[in-house]
Amino acid sequence: MNPVPTILLLSGPNLNLLGQRQPEIYGQATLADHVRRASAVAAEAGYALEHVQSNTEADLVDAIHAARGRVAGIVINPGAFTHYAWAIHDALAAFDGPIVELHLSNPRGRDAWRHTSVVAPVATGTIAGFGGEGYDLSIRALVGLCQAAAGEQIEDRGPEPGGAS
Ligand code: DQA
Repeated sequence: MNPVPTILLLSGPNLNLLGQRQPEIYGQATLADHVRRASAVAAEAGYALEHVQSNTEADLVDAIHAARGRVAGIVINPGAFTHYAWAIHDALAAFDGPIVELHLSNPRGRDAWRHTSVVAPVATGTIAGFGGEGYDLSIRALVGLCQAAAGEQIEDRGPEPGGAS
């Protein structure tokens, strides 16, 4: 039996304070609420979800390294690291599965310093501005990308011997 494929959800600095931190921007739900929702959506699609939150850039870099060759895809809300953490950019560039960048708020509609994302160039796509719904949307988008990638791998290997042509 094939092992259940895994999605890695990464949460950057200050996201541990969701529910208490600027609820007018980030909402009332806690990070645990969002992770529960993301896990349920992943499970429905047949994926396991692992979650790592850290306020430290190095921990996130290490988690991305540990995902290489093991995890099907990554959803990352890098928090403020989005805007300047080139080490996270480089770690993601060395990951070979699909990557979805996620934000609760819409950083492009906020302070000018939030308009730059160093993660966007290495992400397959970005979901921003939909609040907690973004967890649902980003997992669904990632699952679609993972399924497409898995299908391509099977095609690369050619048809199953004796299988339908
Ligand atoms: C955020 C947006 C970032 O600009 C900010 O620093 C965060 C949260 C979001 O989810 O909207 O910490 O990533």
